[in-house]
Amino acid sequence: MELNILTFIYLIGAITFILGLKMLAHPDRARKGNLLAAFGMTLAVIGTIFLYKDEHGNRLHNYGWIFGGIVIGGIIGTLAAKKVKMTAMPEMVSMFNGMGGACAALISIVEFNRMTSHPEITSLPPSGFLSVSVPHGELLIILLGLIIGSVSFAGSMIAWGKLDGNIKDFAFKGQHALNLVFLVGVFALAVYLFVNVNDLFRFDGINAVLTGKGHLIFYSVFVLALLYGVFFVMPIGGADMPVVISLLNSFTGVAAACGGFLYDNKLMLTGGILVGAAGTLLTILMCKAMNRSLANVLIGSFGGTRAAGEAKKQQGTYKEITLSDASVLMAYANRVMIVPGYGLAVAQAQHACHDLEKLLVERGVDVKYAIHPVAGRMPGHMNVLLAEADVSYEKLLEMDQANEEFPTTDVVLILGANDVVNPAAKTDPSSPIYGMPILEVELAKNVIVNKRSMKPGYAGIENSLFFQKKTSMLFGDAKKVLQDLIAEIKSL
Ligand code: TAP
Repeated sequence: MELNILTFIYLIGAITFILGLKMLAHPDRARKGNLLAAFGMTLAVIGTIFLYKDEHGNRLHNYGWIFGGIVIGGIIGTLAAKKVKMTAMPEMVSMFNGMGGACAALISIVEFNRMTSHPEITSLPPSGFLSVSVPHGELLIILLGLIIGSVSFAGSMIAWGKLDGNIKDFAFKGQHALNLVFLVGVFALAVYLFVNVNDLFRFDGINAVLTGKGHLIFYSVFVLALLYGVFFVMPIGGADMPVVISLLNSFTGVAAACGGFLYDNKLMLTGGILVGAAGTLLTILMCKAMNRSLANVLIGSFGGTRAAGEAKKQQGTYKEITLSDASVLMAYANRVMIVPGYGLAVAQAQHACHDLEKLLVERGVDVKYAIHPVAGRMPGHMNVLLAEADVSYEKLLEMDQANEEFPTTDVVLILGANDVVNPAAKTDPSSPIYGMPILEVELAKNVIVNKRSMKPGYAGIENSLFFQKKTSMLFGDAKKVLQDLIAEIKSL
């Protein structure tokens, strides 16, 4: 009966995961979707703790450890999530993802030791020799969970450090060859262990004991997988980190699914598969948004050969626009397109931005937002930011749609965006962002760029858009500039 209740709880959990994921696809429902899936997960965890019984009918007993872990982890997680700035979200996602990978690897280590400490012993007729028989299906899952979980953990920790600015990009000649050596080493040792595991035991009179060689091989797989995770992420350029984090996220999902197989826990399996599939799809979508192949991202040859730091110095001069000229231009325009970028998030200017939009709409201006898929620092960053300020989702145009509308737009107002409107992505094959699709704002009649200085954006390169004839710079912090624009327009 209890098993049936637990199975029913798992079914509810699986349904909430699927519905929650579906709801995440729309900013209006994303928050509720997240809560729904969290509810399903909480129900499943509580159900497992109190209702689970193993094949011998034993319940979980070490409640002190379980609840101690839940309380400590819960407090740390809540404080971290409350404290984190929106702009530091990718770092936190990466760190939490790494914890998932570590869990999967630890499950594999625990289960390997459990499996090999009481192996099945058979006596071979007619000699009567004793032999050990390890279940190979289980061993395969343990090894996969160990490798994928360890790569995900080590890679995510490096990604966290890099996004945090504590770890610098690090590449050397022969890096890819070394990575290949680690990868081949991991799989060669894992295959050796898988094939020969039964011969790696010795008998101590009563029991079969895994030899030191057996332990050495298993832990070498673990260490080499960790090293591979470190060296695989180390050389990847900063701007490519979101793709890598999403890929590592899908690895963690697969590693968790291995845990589900191991414990025959359908919910863990479903959750792992959903994370794995969603992470893979997101990785593919982000690569598409940057017009890159995954291999190209991982091998780190983004666009041209010029490194971000060696930006080509820009020729020409830029012109500035005053607040009053900018407000007149927008207030008397038919169509205004706002292009939000990372700077809008830094300035926390989303509410001011929405106020400006409402003011212009009241004056009969058609206002829309052009959203680039990698604007900001995480997937969907601009959508989340604008949803926070209650900007109508209907007003957000995806890149292709926005590019179609720029030629009929009177004024484009760029708020803290830079790389996503850089024409070098189309025109300069030596640029590190060459090939990335961009918002073609230069097709509009007028372009106003708000940022604080002429400093480059994330990719560290100059932007020729700022020097074009139809572009005017409006310097200042995005929030302050927007508040001033609102005051100016109100006084017109
Ligand atoms: P960026 O190219 O990073 O440019 C942001 C601009 O905002 C900067 O040039 C900065 O110039 C300006 N800025 C900063 N603080 C500001 C403030 N308080 N007020 C006004 N302006 C401010 O941003 P983007 O165009 O959104 O492009 C995103 C970049 O990040 C891409 O290269 C992308 O590949 C990368 N990336 C994306 C993600 C995802 S998934 N979205 C994750 C990681 C990296 P000043 O300093 O002169 O003000």
